[in-house]
Amino acid sequence: MKNIVILISGGGSNMAAIVRTAGQQNWASRHGIRVAAVLSNKADAKGLGIAREQGIATQVLDHKAYASREAFDAALAQAIDAHEPALVVLAGFMRILTPGFVDHFAGRLVNIHPSLLPAFTGLHTHQRAIEAGCKFAGCTVHLVTAELDVGPILDQAVVPVLPGDTAEGLAARVLTQEHLIYPRAVLAHLLR
Ligand code: GAR
Repeated sequence: MKNIVILISGGGSNMAAIVRTAGQQNWASRHGIRVAAVLSNKADAKGLGIAREQGIATQVLDHKAYASREAFDAALAQAIDAHEPALVVLAGFMRILTPGFVDHFAGRLVNIHPSLLPAFTGLHTHQRAIEAGCKFAGCTVHLVTAELDVGPILDQAVVPVLPGDTAEGLAARVLTQEHLIYPRAVLAHLLR
């Protein structure tokens, strides 16, 4: 089995989309791929309940319980390694990762970012796209490298920015596309 470990901090809708697609497309029997575990740095992440309902192992590592970013990332890497992952999937995992962590999982660490990278790295991507007068926005799946929201692009989707759009409205339109491209990019990367 090729194991996927998914890291979340909140709603977990991208995680749920990957789990749902893996089930619908029978990734386990067709490709020997399964979601082995969902890890969160927040005990109240809504996605944890969704994962548990699907019978997926979950674990919480509260970053506030660690003295440094390095100590947290070392503990996180150890918890992930226990599942011997072929791929580690960041799905709304709102932590800046240390170079040591990124190096450890080099080539098997992917992220989804709610903008058309390389535009709008960082936070508040939808508000910034609206304020910049962008006519199109979107989302990007990319391999994670040491620099935040930079790294080889695996897939993207584009949505229009509509007149009068709010950040919330645009975010929802982008999120629908995230749920389509992330499962597709994860599978493609594992079958490459
Ligand atoms: C998604 O829109 C994802 O692209 C974004 O957080 C949301 C998580 O939603 N990620 C980032 O902003 C990373 N910098 P989800 O928890 O429902 O998947």
